[in-house]
Amino acid sequence: MYQNNNPKILIIDDIAENIKVVANVLKKHNFNISFAKSGANGIEKVKKIQFDLILLDIMMPEMDGFEVCRLLKKDIKTKDIPVIFLTAKTDEMSLKKGFETGGVDFITKPFKSSELIARVNSHIQLKLVQEQLKKTNEEIQLANENKDKLLSIIAHDLRNPFSVLIAFSKLLVDSYDEFSKEDVMIYIKSFYQTSKQGFSLLDNLLKWSKSQTGKMEITPERLDLNDLVEETVTLLNSQALNKNIKIRNKVPKNIFAFADLNMTLTVLRNLISNAIKFTNSKGKVSVFGERNKKQIKIIVTDNGVGIDASDIKKILRIDIKHSTSGTVGERGTGLGIILCKEFIEKNNGEFVIESKPGIGSKFSFTLPKIEKND
Ligand SMILES: Nc1ncnc2c1ncn2[C@@H]1O[C@H](COP(=O)(O)OP(=O)(O)OP(=O)(O)O)[C@@H](O)[C@H]1O
Ligand SMILES: [Mg+2]
Repeated sequence: MYQNNNPKILIIDDIAENIKVVANVLKKHNFNISFAKSGANGIEKVKKIQFDLILLDIMMPEMDGFEVCRLLKKDIKTKDIPVIFLTAKTDEMSLKKGFETGGVDFITKPFKSSELIARVNSHIQLKLVQEQLKKTNEEIQLANENKDKLLSIIAHDLRNPFSVLIAFSKLLVDSYDEFSKEDVMIYIKSFYQTSKQGFSLLDNLLKWSKSQTGKMEITPERLDLNDLVEETVTLLNSQALNKNIKIRNKVPKNIFAFADLNMTLTVLRNLISNAIKFTNSKGKVSVFGERNKKQIKIIVTDNGVGIDASDIKKILRIDIKHSTSGTVGERGTGLGIILCKEFIEKNNGEFVIESKPGIGSKFSFTLPKIEKND
């Protein structure tokens, strides 16, 4: 009836014969049984092994069952393990005290096997359901926090480009005749820039939320990293030429990853375009590749402006928007690196940022190596 491991039950009783009787019944139902002959010994065992349920005798010398239960319920690590008292004491006072110390049930000695099994099963089931509920709650809370972050970005950053577009286009509509052709052109150019910026923010937000909700499909395939870097460098070359920056593709030709094509291209595009953006004219951007037994590693380096240690942490947080302008005023959404890290981790890789202000930055990531044809 239990899908995972057999539930672990601890019997604490000072009389060996009692332990034997209970253990014999439970063993027939595939429970994993441990025992302790005193309260102190029982508590010691509970600290070492994660039990699913404890059957506890009340009348024991030195430390009685009530005291054992009280101590277990005081400790955050053991408080959630259900305790059933196994006892001959069934007077009103004992029942009251047992429940008050945190016990969930009583089984009276001498007991019927079927009653013991039924009660043990129902409390273990209850514990499993509670654990599942706790896990689901934590997942809901995380999803909710992500939703809040997303909404706050939408509220703050996506509002801006729209306000600019609305204000300027209204001005044009209302007073078109008062503007020269050149002025109109300036406005139209700024519409283009602003809407492009707004669109890339929206696009990044959608990619991020899709990836958060697990709706992004990942289709790993054989990727030739030298080819992909070459393709990205060609795409970004005019941006680099404008700033007189040289991009070198130093990725060896024999490096193949097993990862999603579009996600890997997005990561390369973000990292190489950042390197260009945050490097001064005549700077250098290089992309290296390495491989070991299991993984490939791609490293994008630049000798640009670098990043403060305190800002590196901010770059990876969706709730703190950290975006600075490039060396010639290029603007961004501040979501690029967050997406890179997310995509690499989704493809079972690791993403690392190293940077020194004034010296340059090094962004690296690993991906699983292709297993076939290698
Ligand atoms: N190679 C780099 N050198 C120096 N700073 C960098 C580099 N890459 C990223 N940064 C810093 O990290 C910030 C966040 O980078 P990220 O790529 O997430 O956003 P962005 O480049 O501002 O916007 P987008 O990627 O949407 O164009 C940048 O604004 C910049 O301050
Ligand atoms: Mg970027």
